[in-house]
Amino acid sequence: MLPLCTLLGLLSRVSLSHSQCSGGIPASMHLLCTLLGLLSLVSLSHSQCSGGIPASEVKGFLDVHNKMRQSISAGTYVAKGKKMPAAKTPIPNLTWDCEIEKSAQAVASTCVFAHSKNRKNLGENLYTYMSSAGVSFNGLGKAASDSWESEFKDYGWSDIKLTNAVFSSGVGHATQMAWAKSTKIGCGMATCNGGKQVIVACQYRDAGNMLGENVYDPK
Ligand SMILES: *[C@@H]1O[C@H](CO)[C@@H](O)[C@H](O)[C@H]1NC(C)=O
Repeated sequence: MLPLCTLLGLLSRVSLSHSQCSGGIPASMHLLCTLLGLLSLVSLSHSQCSGGIPASEVKGFLDVHNKMRQSISAGTYVAKGKKMPAAKTPIPNLTWDCEIEKSAQAVASTCVFAHSKNRKNLGENLYTYMSSAGVSFNGLGKAASDSWESEFKDYGWSDIKLTNAVFSSGVGHATQMAWAKSTKIGCGMATCNGGKQVIVACQYRDAGNMLGENVYDPK
């Protein structure tokens, strides 16, 4: 991934110094310039972080997380028929962090579906997708996030305070998504098992899911 991006970056620099390509040069050079220009666009839209997951997946993660957080904040969120109270102070959107993405990518790249150890102030959600027909990353940012959020829809949300009972009701991924004091997220994705499985790992700072604390403070 990294060498490709470096290459594209170099190509984009070539295309930016456009004068190299204009003025009495053969038409084939112009075509090359156009192609290089297109490549530089591709490299710009390719990922949020150098060597990171596709920008389209970053958007998938952020949109689902932040839509949920904004809805909870506004008091319009319904968890299995129960309308949750609005937040006392607005719940901030999560923003993407390249260092956290790198850290989460290292977890995904182990191709072992298990939480990492010794995280420093990082929460962590994991997801995996398998298909014998082969897998791609396409749409998995949204799919992973939807799957975590569906815990609230399936199991409800009995208490804004994260008690043991709440945690063990099976909503721990959803509460990390909603955790008001988490403001940064980064996620990695790895293709595993000979191309038949993707492992997705997201990490959050500050770490959420502190037992005995509120997911957010209600009005
Ligand atoms: C928060 O995220 C949501 C969903 O992505 C977006 O619609 C909204 O504009 C964001 N709000 C701010 C303040 O960035």
